[in-house]
Amino acid sequence: MEQVTAPRQSSVPHAPYTDPGAADFKIGLAPIAHDAWFEPLHTDPATRKPATEAEHPAITWRALAGSEAGQAEVLAMICAWAGRTPHVEAGLPALRAAARLVDDDLLLMERREGEWTLTAASLCSPTYFSAVEAVGKSLTRLHAPVPRFGDRFLTRVARIFDTLAPDIILQRRNWSVLNAGTLFLPDPEPVRARLAAIDLQAAGRELFVRMERQTLRRLPRTGGLLFTIRIWSHTLDDLRADPGRLAAFAAAWAAVMGEGGADVQAYKKLELYDPLVRAFLKDAGG
Ligand code: HEM
Repeated sequence: MEQVTAPRQSSVPHAPYTDPGAADFKIGLAPIAHDAWFEPLHTDPATRKPATEAEHPAITWRALAGSEAGQAEVLAMICAWAGRTPHVEAGLPALRAAARLVDDDLLLMERREGEWTLTAASLCSPTYFSAVEAVGKSLTRLHAPVPRFGDRFLTRVARIFDTLAPDIILQRRNWSVLNAGTLFLPDPEPVRARLAAIDLQAAGRELFVRMERQTLRRLPRTGGLLFTIRIWSHTLDDLRADPGRLAAFAAAWAAVMGEGGADVQAYKKLELYDPLVRAFLKDAGG
């Protein structure tokens, strides 16, 4: 299958490495306008997603029994937002039908046995996770790989899930550096295995800043929440066209590779990328 690449910098509206506190994890949720829930399409999701789903069914889709009403509410809300009439092909789960209207991946969070749990996921641009492994997990278990998530964030995040008002849409963003520019990246191993072959001089075109723009919104009728993930990506070389972004990226990289960045560095395996990023920054004058 043709590898679909994420949008390039000329059209990337996010630069989360310019946010303060780049060295550490943060909740970073902020309200956005209703109109901004989903961003303009970069691909044709109604074509792209079925192709990815056919090739990787278990990675891209899983739903728990009992999530159907929440899925149907997501479809109705996205159709209402987009001014579309709900239409579901026979046999297609409602969350997958909804996911064909937007570039984002859609994750349905519902309370199960007292814990916020991922009950259905349509995941066609995963960054190192899969629907088959993630669906059924609680917020705690989903974040087990994130250092100190339980101590530092869990109570606050669960409270946001408990109390978020229906008319508010929250957004958060993150960023990382990877040697891949494709949307579908479920597994880190083959990506990292290609790192050793990259020459220092090629760092700017082989490395990508990969950003997730996430939103969170209550489903007022069924009580769950919809979490969305949209991938944006550009090469390091693309930073050369924008000295402000290049300088912000250089500062964020120095911060995250410094002492305060130990958790993020370890989680994102950034030390693997450090020699290449430094070579790029030296050459680009960042
Ligand atoms: C809205 C509240 C949430 C916050 C504040 C939050 C926070 C985080 C943080 C700090 C990370 C580490 C990477 C990063 O900086 O983004 C992370 C990773 C992750 N989050 Fe969340 N998260 C939230 C909601 C969710 C939800 C609803 C899901 C449901 C699937 C989820 C699934 C994940 C996964 C799968 C990872 C990657 C873990 C891995 O590498 O295996 N998060 N999250």
